[in-house]
Amino acid sequence: MIDINTAWDELKERVAACKKCGLCETRNNTVFGDGNINSRVVIIGEAPGEEEDATGLPFVGKAGQLLTAILEKGGSIPRKSVYIANVVKCRPPDNRNPNLQEVSACREYLDAQLLLLRPMIVVTLGNVPTQAILRTSTGITSLRGRWFDWRGVKVFPMFHPSYLLRNDSRAKGSPKDLTYQDVKALKKKIDEIEIITRQNNKE
Ligand code: URA
Repeated sequence: MIDINTAWDELKERVAACKKCGLCETRNNTVFGDGNINSRVVIIGEAPGEEEDATGLPFVGKAGQLLTAILEKGGSIPRKSVYIANVVKCRPPDNRNPNLQEVSACREYLDAQLLLLRPMIVVTLGNVPTQAILRTSTGITSLRGRWFDWRGVKVFPMFHPSYLLRNDSRAKGSPKDLTYQDVKALKKKIDEIEIITRQNNKE
């Protein structure tokens, strides 16, 4: 039988040593992921930025602080209760979007993480993770706030917090307003899943 903890540690070591694409030349640290590995919810971002590259932790810069506030204040979802990772584990220079070759080189690590974590809900932030997971070219504006099925997992795209930093209005119908609606819908689904899981465990 596979020992999950050993498989997880081995995967982390493989990511730390990875040289599958050119991003290994400029990274300071790989950013594997962080959070509750027993969570039923995994949040997937795009790629590390400067602070993440410096610390080896996902979403610790400005976008990360906004993500934490949205989860905790908007959705009453403690950041520590979920697991957070990125599609691409190394920082693209100048925070450019990772290209298709980098996304596909890194894909096996994300797939292995999801296989080991076995989440019930995957939240994808912005175009890069949403399009990578759902294998679509449709944009985030059409996909956000809707539930999709991916290999039996519920996928819920939301706007990326960096996009919200650039679009700060809280006016009705603005990206930020929609995101606060989305995180409430996310919390509702997490609560529903918890009730069903508790009932199933009693039976
Ligand atoms: N943006 C991301 O997509 N991921 C991070 O870890 C930080 C910023």
